[in-house]
Amino acid sequence: MMIEKIMVIGAGQMGGGIAEVCATAGFDVVLCDLSQEALTNGFAKITANLTKNVAKERMTEEAKEAALAKFTLVTDVSSAASVDLIIEAATENMAVKQSIFKSLDTLAPAHAILATNTSSLPITELAAVTQRPEQVIGMHFMNPVPVMKLVEIIRGLATTDEVYQAIENLTHVLKKTPVEVNDFPGFVANRILMPMINEAIYTLYEGVATVEAIDDVMKLGMNHPMGPLTLADFIGLDTCLYIMETLHEGFGDSKYRPCPLLRKYVAAGWLGKKSGRGFYVYE
Ligand code: CAA
Repeated sequence: MMIEKIMVIGAGQMGGGIAEVCATAGFDVVLCDLSQEALTNGFAKITANLTKNVAKERMTEEAKEAALAKFTLVTDVSSAASVDLIIEAATENMAVKQSIFKSLDTLAPAHAILATNTSSLPITELAAVTQRPEQVIGMHFMNPVPVMKLVEIIRGLATTDEVYQAIENLTHVLKKTPVEVNDFPGFVANRILMPMINEAIYTLYEGVATVEAIDDVMKLGMNHPMGPLTLADFIGLDTCLYIMETLHEGFGDSKYRPCPLLRKYVAAGWLGKKSGRGFYVYE
C-alpha cells in the first residue's frame, strides 16, 4: 500500500503539527480547514517551527524550503479525490467527525485510508458511517506533535491487517514510535492521563492546594515535565471535558465524572492557553 500524498483535516495545534511532520518526512500534504484564516495561521506556525529548527541547526534552509513546498492549502474537502491517506484532526466531537468521514468517504479514492487523530472517540463507530470500515483507523498523535514520539494506532473492529501495517510503517517513516491499542474509550493515553488531570482539578476544587502547589507536587515529586493543570491548559479545557465525558459515558462508571470546576471553566470560555485563560492567565 503506497502512501505518497496525505490530506490533513484541521490546521489547529494537532493538525498543523501532523502536517508539519508529514511534509518534513517528504510527503505531499494537502492541509484543509474551514477558513482561509485558520489555514494562514496554521501555516504561519508551521513555517515558524521550521525556521526555529534551521536556527537550531536541526534542519538546513533547503530542507525547510523543500518541506514548505510540499504544502497545498485548501478550504474545500474535494481535494480528497487525489490523496492516499487522510488524517482527520478536526474538533473532538463525534457528530462533527462523522459528518466529515461521510463526505470524505464519497470523495476519496477507493484505495485511500481514512485515519482519525481522535483522542478518545470510538474508531468503530466512526468507521460505521463509511462504506470502507476496513480502511478506517485511529492515528493518535500527542501534543506538541513535532516533539512527542508516540503515536497510538487504534484498530476499529473491521480494520484490516494490511491497513494497520501501512499506518505502522508510515509512523516509523515520520520518525515516531507506534503503539498498538484496542478500540476502547480513551484508548490508553487518555484513559490514564485524563483521570489524573480531572483528579488534579478536584484537588483544586476541594481546596486541598493552590494551582501552583498542585503543579509543583507533580513536577518536583513525580518528575512530570508539566504539572497537570498546566498540561490541561495546554491541551485545552474543552478537550479535557469532552474526553472525560467520553470516558464517563463509554464506561458508565462514576469514577470518570468530570469535575464541576472543569465544567464551569469551559462554560466561562476559560479554555486554557488558546483562549488566554484557564487555570493560569496567558498574555
Ligand atoms: N511545537 C514544536 N516544538 C516545541 C513546541 C511546539 N508546540 N513546544 C516546545 N517545543 C520544543 C522546543 O522548541 C524545545 O526544543 P529544543 O530544546 O530542541 O529547542 C523542546 O520542545 C523543549 O521545549 P522548552 O525547552 O521550551 O520547554 P520544555 O522543556 O518544558 O518542553 C514540552 C516543552 C516538550 C511541551 C514539555 O513540557 C512536555 O513534554 N510537556 C508534556 C507534554 C505532554 O504531556 N503531551 C501530551 C499531551 S496529551 C495529548 O496530546 C493527548 C491528548 O489526546 C489530549
